[in-house]
Amino acid sequence: MEFSKRLELFGPEIFAALNDRKVALEAEGRTLYNLSVGTPDFPTPPHIKQALVEAAAKDENWKYSLRDLPELLDAVCGYYVRRFGVEGLARENVMSFAGSQDGIGHLGLALCNDGDTVLLPDPCYPVFMTGARLGGAQPWFYKLTKENRFLPDVSSIPAEVAKKAKFMLVSLPANPVGSVGTPELYREIVDFCRTNDIFLVHDNAYSDIIFDGVKGGSIFNIPGAREVAVEFFSLSKSFNVTGARISFLVGRPDVVAACKKLRTQIDFGMFLPIQYAAIAALTGPLDMVQRQCADYQARRDALCGGLRSIGWDVPDSHGSMFVWAPLPEGRTDSMAFCMELIDKAGVICTPGASFGPSGEGYVRFALTLPVERIAQAVQAIADSGLIH
Ligand SMILES: Cc1ncc(COP(=O)(O)O)c(C=O)c1O
Repeated sequence: MEFSKRLELFGPEIFAALNDRKVALEAEGRTLYNLSVGTPDFPTPPHIKQALVEAAAKDENWKYSLRDLPELLDAVCGYYVRRFGVEGLARENVMSFAGSQDGIGHLGLALCNDGDTVLLPDPCYPVFMTGARLGGAQPWFYKLTKENRFLPDVSSIPAEVAKKAKFMLVSLPANPVGSVGTPELYREIVDFCRTNDIFLVHDNAYSDIIFDGVKGGSIFNIPGAREVAVEFFSLSKSFNVTGARISFLVGRPDVVAACKKLRTQIDFGMFLPIQYAAIAALTGPLDMVQRQCADYQARRDALCGGLRSIGWDVPDSHGSMFVWAPLPEGRTDSMAFCMELIDKAGVICTPGASFGPSGEGYVRFALTLPVERIAQAVQAIADSGLIH
């Protein structure tokens, strides 16, 4: 059978070899430290689970939902006021997606035409590339470099590229590089987009995981952003609900309407018990979110500080649930190094090459184990002899 040409846009599954190795070592009973996938190990808060269970007990909640409940849209608008101080959002500014992964993956189909240019970070979260390419767009990668603290530098984007760009995707705190934006930087990006008539898409997956006392915000804290931006706002990482797939697109009504038009062609809406769970998360207590951020920071300290103490010079991550580690001296191939790390230390991380051309030369660790287990992982790396 001849399959869709679109599938040829995607390369071979580079994780397959790493995963096969992991399964083989597990079968041998080896102790493994899985720091590869960014799914939180913290529990989902009880009030969110309870809302889902209660809603699931009612027959009427098992039908097609067909739409976002008005109470859900209002809860998102209320949360933006309570958490970010962003006033004035209305129902027309909000729609749900089954996760930001789903939303970003479909974005190009709603916004782009064949041959459009979109600005993406490199390295980046892989679905950014998928979303652009499925929509027929050509990514133009702006580099996140060590020299610029892994932050977007709009002055590095040539004028002729800016002139033709349809949208720019920005995601801070950044996966995989762990950098965090400042209000000044966001202002620069918003101004750049306004000046060049580029639509801005902000993926705000990690607004609640920022370290060293810095508080995350929303793109709509920046003057002028309302006219040029939408934001993907996911509950996955703040509330440990990755499996429930709850995310929202928030911002300019015409863009929300376009994405809704696309979504309603292929989906009958979010399962109602999940909508009630989302309302509970958005309107409930937030103290656990803050405690959890402190726990992530302790893990960051254990991993980055621990690796430095054994001679691997890994800088502190500033936010997200990831640490971006340059390969130890003498190594150049991130996939090969990951295979060695799993074989010799039992530590599983992700090759930087899987996040775009500039990711080679790095590996990404996810902060998904408690401090004690991270300390054991660091010891296992020290014992492996891989770091000199
Ligand atoms: C930057 C970024 N955006 C989006 C997502 C996906 O979030 P969701 O669970 O809402 O699909 C992730 C998940 O790791 C991520 O790192």
